[in-house]
Amino acid sequence: MGRPLPCPERGNVLLIGGGGREHALAWKLRQSPRLGTLWLTDAMNAGLSRLGETCPVSMDCSDAFQMQRWCERNDIHLVVVGPEGPLAAGIADILASEHRQVFGPTKAAAQIEADKVFAKNIMLHASIPTAESRVFHDPESARHYVNAHEDPCVVKAAGLAAGKGAIVCDDQEQALAAIDRIMVDREFGEAGDTMIIEEKLPGQEISVLALVDGRTIWLLDPCQDHKQVGEGDIGPNTGGMGAYCPTPFLEPEILTAVQGEIIVPVVDALRRAGLNYRGVLYTGLMLTPAGPKVLEFNCRFGDPECQPIMARLKTDLFEILWATCAGTLDDVLIEFDPRTACCVVMCSEGYPGPYDKGKPITGIEDAEALGDENQQVIVFHSGTRHDNEGQLVTNGGRVLGVTALADDLQAARDLANAACRCIHFDGAFYRRDIGDRVLVTSP
Ligand code: AMP
Ligand code: GLY
Repeated sequence: MGRPLPCPERGNVLLIGGGGREHALAWKLRQSPRLGTLWLTDAMNAGLSRLGETCPVSMDCSDAFQMQRWCERNDIHLVVVGPEGPLAAGIADILASEHRQVFGPTKAAAQIEADKVFAKNIMLHASIPTAESRVFHDPESARHYVNAHEDPCVVKAAGLAAGKGAIVCDDQEQALAAIDRIMVDREFGEAGDTMIIEEKLPGQEISVLALVDGRTIWLLDPCQDHKQVGEGDIGPNTGGMGAYCPTPFLEPEILTAVQGEIIVPVVDALRRAGLNYRGVLYTGLMLTPAGPKVLEFNCRFGDPECQPIMARLKTDLFEILWATCAGTLDDVLIEFDPRTACCVVMCSEGYPGPYDKGKPITGIEDAEALGDENQQVIVFHSGTRHDNEGQLVTNGGRVLGVTALADDLQAARDLANAACRCIHFDGAFYRRDIGDRVLVTSP
């Protein structure tokens, strides 16, 4: 291996993606004195687009030559990839060069998220604790299996399904319907060519994100997302309704065990398979009575987990991302604000089902003005845009990630909810109970 590329005094960055996670990454990158021009692939998101220039060419991996040429001409030093789609399509393989770093794993290593069968096999070979599972290639044998097993299960499309491909089932009827959705109705297209059926695990769900530079692993403080749409954890799963960081559910000794028994072994197993993982490795864990078990690995920052993580990050993000790519993470000290950050996601009526777009949004400035010298409100945009009249309007199911930083979880959650009350758009809804699993002790 050659010498690591030194971190440039000033570097131009191309940020791929256009959601709340990318707004948070751009917001943090803008605080770096090393940032030259920030180029964005998404000109729509009204919060993100004001932070950089719009890249005029498509970066969807369909034209590698054009993507490479544009990066050469614009002297891009660092490409930061937000979503999993471009990583699974090989953007890191296409854009990395002798003088350009790409934050995110190669196509082969991104299979840890893009192919759940690949991930299960890696876990099996490395003895990593995860739910018992079976793989199916046709609906008939899957039905046969479900009819013979009464326990609640989770039916999952093996490929990428925009976070919607895992269907949690309480009984056989629901499981049979899930099989039909995935393999007969083909709701998730070819992502459902192969399916996994696994035991439903009980417990608290936690997200542990780690930076991995091929050798060094740096664990970020654990977060807790809230997947279900309704307060009290009811209704269908979403991309995530709100997250806070850090979470007290993973005590330091359990986090050390997670590192030693899950994260180090998976990175080692990938290396044994010839895959040098670089980027962020997101481990979705269930804290079961039998110990932490892996629900999934993702090859990118979580959304909305990224928003509270960035709100707390004190260290220069450019330097962290560069060191992860260059294999020099052990030279960097990553520091976080000791306070808690809580992100509450404001959504469009109907989400995660069909919803309308184009509803005028007001009150963001009032929300951000709730901050003072001790606490802060940052409103990250997920699905917003400016309409032809320049009015800020909704443009997605998840619209805003209203993020508050305060002394403790209670204060951060209360402040985020107060900020949400300042913001208005037709049909807006959000969960007021983000963090309740900690704040409310059950009777
Ligand atoms: P996945 O795409 O595999 O992460 O699954 C999406 C969501 O479904 C997870 O974040 C969990 O909330 C839920 N889930 C997935 N697998 C299981 C499981 N084995 N037991 C319970 N819940 C699960
Ligand atoms: N918040 C869940 C995810 O990003 O997959």
